[in-house]
Amino acid sequence: MRYTNSEKIYEKAVKIIPGGVNSPVRAFKSVDKTYPIFVNRGKGSKIYDEDGNEYIDYICSWGPLILGHNNERVLSGVREAIELGSSFGLPTKMEVELAELICKCYPSMDMVRFTTSGTEATMAAVRVARAFTNRNKILKFEGCYHGHSDSLLVSSGSGLLTDGYQDSNGITDGVLKDTLVASFGDVERVREILSTKEVACLIMEPVPANMGLINSSKEFLEAMRDICDETGTLLIFDEVISGLRVSLGGAQEYFGVTPDITTLGKIIGGGYPVGAFGGKKAIMDMIAPVGRVYHAGTLSGNPVAVRAGYEMVSYLLENRETLYKELEDKVNYITDEVKKMSEKYRVPVCINKLGSLFTIFFTNLDEITSLNQVINSNTEHYSIYFNTLLDNGVVAPPSKYEAHFVSTAHTKDDLDRTLQIMEMAFKKIGEMNGK
Ligand SMILES: Cc1ncc(COP(=O)(O)O)c(C=O)c1O
Repeated sequence: MRYTNSEKIYEKAVKIIPGGVNSPVRAFKSVDKTYPIFVNRGKGSKIYDEDGNEYIDYICSWGPLILGHNNERVLSGVREAIELGSSFGLPTKMEVELAELICKCYPSMDMVRFTTSGTEATMAAVRVARAFTNRNKILKFEGCYHGHSDSLLVSSGSGLLTDGYQDSNGITDGVLKDTLVASFGDVERVREILSTKEVACLIMEPVPANMGLINSSKEFLEAMRDICDETGTLLIFDEVISGLRVSLGGAQEYFGVTPDITTLGKIIGGGYPVGAFGGKKAIMDMIAPVGRVYHAGTLSGNPVAVRAGYEMVSYLLENRETLYKELEDKVNYITDEVKKMSEKYRVPVCINKLGSLFTIFFTNLDEITSLNQVINSNTEHYSIYFNTLLDNGVVAPPSKYEAHFVSTAHTKDDLDRTLQIMEMAFKKIGEMNGK
């Protein structure tokens, strides 16, 4: 592989864009590369960089592209929408239709409000929860990422973890003190904090996927539901990743536990900028212009993005009976083979997986359930894994703190080719360990 053009573009980029990227997880720093690949186009399971290299893609835009790149149905909807106009600053019929579809998939939502990103969805959800409960504090789990609004950039996951810190600078002490933190899985600590009855909401990824994928359980989510009920705290499920991915109705459907507010993003925009938050009518009636919790956006519910989302969600709804099972089968196919490689080359790994998500942790541990364990997993092995894959035409997440995303566009041939290359990586790591 030659990366000459990507390198040249990076040299220009880094002078005018901080780090040369518009979102830190796009930089390849934590996997020992100076610059990332610059992508030119994508189709199906593949992306193509500015040097003309082809890659089987397991980032899939960090989740939205469950149907792969430039899915024909989404694309033709987008083409139609673009012809009608870019944005009006007035409501459109398609927003109502997408809202209806989403509420159909998420019975916990009587109403939904669109945003342009997951960050805005979680930020607004927290604001509504504060207004509804008349409480200021919020509780989140360490290592979970809920976007980049001030109150949620505390003990955060994703790009912050990758860069070796968890709290962003530039956030006032007042904001910091209102965000309380517990470890995922620590029921007693959550009970202790929420018993003060000073906390507006517990916001959580019901399936944490921003410190690598961490397994969740019905029992734990039920415990969170019960404690929230006992203490008058609203339960927010941030399903920006898990929504329409672990199942059409998200983790709440998969585990059968109902939150008060749900936040969505990624898949509901079909690859275009859409987020959403929703819940029971009594909560959503707090929002302007009905109530006095302000939430707005020049491009909220943008017609092109909403049309893309509408096509994607409709497709998922029509094919839900087979599609989710097929995705899960693909992940099982890959991860079963990876386990065999791990034994063959004596490179210990622990694999967490759910639906079309999986993370390979390079570790001696049988289970990875906590942030600390993830932090202590082997960064050097992950870097060799990533770079061997990249140099042979497969893009894995450029950080051990992220999940691999599989799409319906990944074919059996793609998976077999990926496995061949993964085996090269395991062999390399095994040989290095043997020396
Ligand atoms: C669980 C979760 N919540 C919120 C967000 C923020 O969404 P966005 O990047 O669209 O602002 C993300 C982004 O990765 C996420 O994974």
